Amino acid sequence: MKQIRPIAFIAALFLSLLCQAQEMIRISTSDHEMVMAAYNAGPVHFVYWGEKVQGDAFPFQPGKNQPDTQDDITPRIYPSYGGRHYLTPALRLTHSDGVLTTDLVYAGHTVSVLDENRKETVISLKDRIYPVTVSVRFLAYQKENVIAQSVTLSHSEPSQVVVESIASSFIPFHADSYWLTHFNGTWAHEMQLEEERLTHGQKVIESKKGVRATQSENPSFILSLDGPLAEDSGEVYAGALAWSGNYRLVFELDETGRLGVTSGINPFASELILEPGKYLETPQMILSYSPAGAGQLSRNMHDWARRYGMTHGDVLHPVLLNSWEGAYFTFDEKTIIDMIDKAASAGVEMFVLDDGWFGNRHPRNGDNAGLGDWQVNRKKLPRGIDHLADHAVSKGMRFGIWIEPEMVNPDSDLAHKHPEWIVRSGEREVLTMRNQWLLDLTNPEVQDFIVKTFDEVLGQSDNISYVKWDANRHVDNVGSTYLPADRQSHFWYEYVRRLYDVYERIRAKHPDIMIQLCSSGGGRLDYGALKYHDEFWASDNTNALDRIYIQHSTNLLFPAIATGSHVSTSPNHQTDMLIPLKFRFDVAMGGRLGMELQPSSLVGEEYEFSCKAIAVYKDFVRPLVQLGDLYRLESPYSGTGWSSHMHVAKDKSEAVMFAYCMKYNGRTTFFSTRLKGLDPESVYKVEEINEGNVPSFPAGTLTSTGDYLMKVGLQLRIDKPFSSCVLKISKIPCSDSQ
Ligand code: GLA
Repeated sequence: MKQIRPIAFIAALFLSLLCQAQEMIRISTSDHEMVMAAYNAGPVHFVYWGEKVQGDAFPFQPGKNQPDTQDDITPRIYPSYGGRHYLTPALRLTHSDGVLTTDLVYAGHTVSVLDENRKETVISLKDRIYPVTVSVRFLAYQKENVIAQSVTLSHSEPSQVVVESIASSFIPFHADSYWLTHFNGTWAHEMQLEEERLTHGQKVIESKKGVRATQSENPSFILSLDGPLAEDSGEVYAGALAWSGNYRLVFELDETGRLGVTSGINPFASELILEPGKYLETPQMILSYSPAGAGQLSRNMHDWARRYGMTHGDVLHPVLLNSWEGAYFTFDEKTIIDMIDKAASAGVEMFVLDDGWFGNRHPRNGDNAGLGDWQVNRKKLPRGIDHLADHAVSKGMRFGIWIEPEMVNPDSDLAHKHPEWIVRSGEREVLTMRNQWLLDLTNPEVQDFIVKTFDEVLGQSDNISYVKWDANRHVDNVGSTYLPADRQSHFWYEYVRRLYDVYERIRAKHPDIMIQLCSSGGGRLDYGALKYHDEFWASDNTNALDRIYIQHSTNLLFPAIATGSHVSTSPNHQTDMLIPLKFRFDVAMGGRLGMELQPSSLVGEEYEFSCKAIAVYKDFVRPLVQLGDLYRLESPYSGTGWSSHMHVAKDKSEAVMFAYCMKYNGRTTFFSTRLKGLDPESVYKVEEINEGNVPSFPAGTLTSTGDYLMKVGLQLRIDKPFSSCVLKISKIPCSDSQ
């Protein structure tokens, strides 16, 4: 990122000398830093974000002036509406006397070392006239090179202030060109990568869906300066908003050539009334920088996420069988027991009972009834959940169960008992989506109900160790019978805050339970919710070809350990596509491996292959995929028809490489690639694992230096669609390699 251009006018120079920065505030991680210039009772300018600058002298001068005024318009760290900030403001208030503008100036800052890895800097801003305080908080994670930014607003005006918009962060950039990568999608087609060069004006990425807010666009981005996103070169910046409701990311390129990126909760229909003495806190914007392309950026985010952005990110996740595609709503006790038995014999470590196990007066035999009535269906499962969970444990497996506690079918006891708990807009019709309504989480009774439901579902057996938490609709006809008339616009903010309260209460009671984040697939994939979960279900699309794209994009910012990735049947239930079992396994192994099928359908060679693949994953692949470093070798979006990536152990002693052929390129072409992330000096043995009937690695076994593998590379025989290869790369101890 360029520094702000030198000032152009003598008058401005004079002015700038008069108002030398009182303080340069440097927010640093191990390798990078943000720099801000604070002026006594004046602005705090955003000066720089990039690689660390050596030395203490930082002779920053405010930048280019408005030609027709003497005021500098150097970007501030947190621009408010008013004055000469013409981009989308980070903060817009209506003061208690009706005044629409806010003018924030520096009022001090504090730096606290929270522990060996986290340093917190809080910059205090105050309005020049009104008793309004804004604290901009930067939490710098040293080792991971990640900075989390959030804002707290409070005031002591005589009466309420209306918060019209309040962002988590504003980041200004100055470069010759800006390339934005973002992720759109829909059900079963989540996280589709799009890259575009930004032109003058605004590009807005947002959600107004409240729940299932990431189904159409994820609240995250990667920005590449001066050229399209590359894997190993170029200055790139990542942002991921930790918020599970309406959000808005605004990219605004102005006439000076600067880009302002304003990220936060969506102000749409969301005015927030703030009483004197109360405060309002924004979600965190998770930010990271890499001077060397997307690869390093992803590794920063993954390291951060495993330690701070998810639950149990440092322990290996089990291979599981989820019952959904194998049984849907149609099962009885025997169906489930048989699934458990077969899965156990194949080496699967956890069985998850999906939708359909509850509801008696309104049995959950389809998606049209029972939601809200979380008692086991005695007709389907006469001996209850405990019998199934105990059986799984007796087979050496763990047991998990599906819930969707924020929702209710009209055809349920709960909907009849508590019509006032349902999200509704006055007297308007309450629209159903997937035959269900949404419970009003702003209501404390609903919050208690969800916590109680979670407890009661777990209370069915001591042997439940995993919960899949689903949310299969979004918000329309918004409104709450709990919130007062003048607080209806608080619904969007309150829903998410109270959801987080509920998660907090549940996590306090059940710290060891694994919880999967699901929302019709990847409809709630954000770091606000993931913090309380162990993993997410990336998509209901289990078709291996589509999963290559979904997992590639997802893993740009979210780690593989959290990416639920299941082998399903062929033809695929979503796409009808026929894909060989090996390819399906090789793709699913790139995340937290699982199965999503009726295991009795796996017979003969297919069963043998599945057992072998699960063993290979557990023995060698899992620790690397889940806890290692991701290096992308070939993007599925490259258009070559191949996709490849590898995961390398932190100490570079081992690696696993995956390569997939996605289309036919003719008889004379072949896939070759250079490896990454190895130790150039060390000697490695490379061999194919999880092989099919035809070997894909013509060399058989190869021994070579990391340097050779990274400079010359490897050739693979994967030239037919759905051929794939998995390579085991292991360092040979010095004595053996001589
Ligand atoms: C959603 C989930 C699926 C499954 C069904 C059950 O669609 O994404 O995995 O759990 O609900 O109804």
